[in-house]
Amino acid sequence: MSPSSIEAIAPATSANLGAGFDVFGVALDSPLLFDRVLVEKIEDEGKIEIEVEGEGAEGVPREPERNTAGIVARELLRFSGRRHGLKIVVYKGIRPGSGLGSSAASAAATAVAINELLNLKLSQSQLIDFAALGELASAGAPHADNVSAAILGDFIIITSREPLEVLKLKLPDNAEFAIVLPEIKVDTGLARALLPKKVDLSSMVYNIGRAATFVAGIALNNVEIMGRGMMDSVIEPARAPLIPGLSQVKERALKAGAAGVAISGAGPSVIALVDSRKARTETVAMAMKEAFEEVGIGSRPICARPGPGAKVIRREVE
Ligand code: HSE
Repeated sequence: MSPSSIEAIAPATSANLGAGFDVFGVALDSPLLFDRVLVEKIEDEGKIEIEVEGEGAEGVPREPERNTAGIVARELLRFSGRRHGLKIVVYKGIRPGSGLGSSAASAAATAVAINELLNLKLSQSQLIDFAALGELASAGAPHADNVSAAILGDFIIITSREPLEVLKLKLPDNAEFAIVLPEIKVDTGLARALLPKKVDLSSMVYNIGRAATFVAGIALNNVEIMGRGMMDSVIEPARAPLIPGLSQVKERALKAGAAGVAISGAGPSVIALVDSRKARTETVAMAMKEAFEEVGIGSRPICARPGPGAKVIRREVE
């Protein structure tokens, strides 16, 4: 029996992790930190209806051509050749503009739900490509780091964007993440627009060294070495002015025992890597929250482990 509606969830993700700009991504497993998407068939041919509820829903556009989930749905419906429409209800657990892959989660959950609803049998790489179209609309840049992690889970490396090649690695069991989400907004478009168009050779060498160190830490099952790789001399200095207190927050995370710390994606969240055998993730998260408080910014501490990717959680049949 073919399904009449499918519900899927996709996790929050953190991109970059220091020097891996547009290349590294990790899926985050933390209670309530995911988007849930319900998709059902409707009669009107080609029509896409969008409803949005939850965290920051009031700021999310409902027009399908401006909504991440709407764009993914439109493209998948075209691809399928089906002569009906789709209604999509997005329940946001991840605040938009948090640096935690909010739009990627909506896009990933929508792609996974429609794939099952319309029995499209897409490969994971096709799912990422469709989900990335939604990201392109919201972030204005064709990066696939968040959507890849949101679909595949665990830690991913974008080996190539065109054509898309993604590697997935499992992180050490003792790798955890302390995150702090401040009550400030960072305009994702601005966070990309202010990036340097050219990079000098010494910065390139620095960043390659750091990114390689992060991956070497994974290969060596050593969280401390991974943490040494979470440094970036190109992107983070350009974005730092958008996050008041960033240097204090980073300093406090390291003092509280974090192995490494960086802006999460385009910010304003800050993510610290913690070796759970050496420090308490909650302690690091609280230390970062206190540092934001000291500069007058409220924030939400979050603890997460690397987690699974998007999945279908419910199917109703006709
Ligand atoms: N790699 C992207 C960026 C991720 O840093 O702009 C956005 O979350």
